[in-house]
Formats: sequence, C-alpha cells, structure tokens
Amino acid sequence: MILDDISWEIRPGENWVVLGSNGSGKTTLLQILAGYLWPTSGEVTVLGERFGEVDLRVLRRKIGWVGSFLQAQVPPSQKPLEFIVSGKYATLGIFDTPSPSDFEEAAALAERLHCQKILDLPYAVLSQGEKQRLLIARALISKPGLLILDEPCSGLDLVSREQLLSTLESLGRDPEGPSMILVTHYLEEIMPAFGHVFLLKSGRCTAQGEKTAILKPDLLTDAFGIPIDAGRENGRFWCRVALKG
Ligand SMILES: Nc1ncnc2c1ncn2[C@@H]1O[C@H](COP(=O)(O)OP(=O)(O)OP(=O)(O)O)[C@@H](O)[C@H]1O
Ligand SMILES: [Mg+2]
Repeated sequence: MILDDISWEIRPGENWVVLGSNGSGKTTLLQILAGYLWPTSGEVTVLGERFGEVDLRVLRRKIGWVGSFLQAQVPPSQKPLEFIVSGKYATLGIFDTPSPSDFEEAAALAERLHCQKILDLPYAVLSQGEKQRLLIARALISKPGLLILDEPCSGLDLVSREQLLSTLESLGRDPEGPSMILVTHYLEEIMPAFGHVFLLKSGRCTAQGEKTAILKPDLLTDAFGIPIDAGRENGRFWCRVALKG
C-alpha cells in the first residue's frame, strides 16, 4: 500500500504545498491527480472531471507537470522554442505541425520565464535552472488549469531558485493563472501565493489546511519523525532540525 485513506479537496484559486519525507508518497499522489496512475479504490475528480467518466488524454492537456522525470526524455538537440511548443501537443517531440502563432506564444513564455538568452542552444547543453524554467514554460503553453510542480527547485542555486520562486508567486497572483501544487523539501520555498499545506507520512495524511496552522513544530516533528523547529520571517517560513543541548 503506497497511499491510504487520502481525502483532499482543492478549491478554485488555492495553491497547495505537499510535504513529506522521501518515499512518503508525494509523487505517487500527484501522478494519480495527473491521470498517470489509477488508485485501486476511491474517487478522483480533477478540474471538475471525474476519473472514469472523462477521456484522460484530453484532461491531461489541462494539467501541467514540471518534474525531473520529463527531462530524461527530451531529444538532446531540441531547441528551447520547439521544446516549449511541444507542450501544446502533449508529446515531447513535435509530431503535429505547430503554427507560427504557437511559436509566438512560446517566445512570449520564454520571455516571461527569462529564457531569451538561451533560445539558440540545444536542450542538452542547458543548465539545470535553465531546463527547469523551460519545463515551466512548456507546461504553461497549453494554459493548464492545474500546474503540478514536483521539486522544481532541485539543483538550483540560490539566485536561480529565488527567480523561479518569484515566477511561481506571480503565476499564483495572476487571476488567469493555474492552480498550483508544489512538492518541496524546503519550507523557505513556500511563497505567499501558496496558502495551504498537505502533510504526508508513510502514505497517510497527518495534517492539511492553511499553512499557518500546519507549518508548526509539533506537526512537522510528527510528519518527519525527528524534532523540528519551524517559524516564519518576512512572510517566508524556515525549519531546522532541533538539536539537543
Ligand atoms: N510502482 C511501484 N511499485 C512499488 N512501489 C512503489 C511504486 N511506485 C512507488 N513505490 C514506492 O512508494 C513509495 C512512495 O514513492 P513516491 O515516489 O511517491 O515518494 P515521494 O514522497 O515522492 O518521495 P521523494 O521525496 O523521494 O520523491 C516509495 O517507497 C516507493 O518506493
Ligand atoms: Mg517524489
């Protein structure tokens, strides 16, 4: 059993963070939401569409996914704009013929994600941070209703991470922007736009709700199984292992 007794409702306009230790089931939970995995029991409704009654291939186009597993499948010679456009067709290569307006949209997204300087480079040579920004642009081109971000900041330096987080914050403030679900291991990555937290421990939810109620030392200590101190400073959170003595 990987996940058990999960009950979770995300209301329109909410952005959530999923926290839990390695192997607690975060990616599996998100793969279910994105229609890549099917739960053995229970019901899933995403963007108003109930699984079992909807064509998942169609629904999946409304769900953006940013996670490292996609990166391994990108053709090394693919150029950034082609890569972004490929998100529109929900394939990693380009099999349909994209229109000039697709490329205009891709260029606008590249600018929004500060990718203008890398547009002539093949994917294979890009840095981790550049790839992550392109993945987000690619996810946004199909105007998703839900954007799932599975550890999007992994491997980023402090500056790149802060830039990426501020992009997420501006998406979160955009009334036309998608709902977002962010998986992270670091509380300082929880930007103000993310108002809710879902805590997972060994496949079960130990707490969920508004972040100010969930990001507390006692709940975090319970979820991670080690003593944790946590607090808030200038609208951002921090946590550290509570050392004895
Ligand atoms: N297809 C599978 N068959 C068997 N076990 C699986 C399968 N997929 C995942 N698991 C197990 O389920 C657990 C949850 O995996 P998952 O990838 O969801 O964890 P996670 O919370 O995303 O962890 P991490 O923080 O390391 O990314 C792990 O113990 C994993 O080994
Ligand atoms: Mg994971």
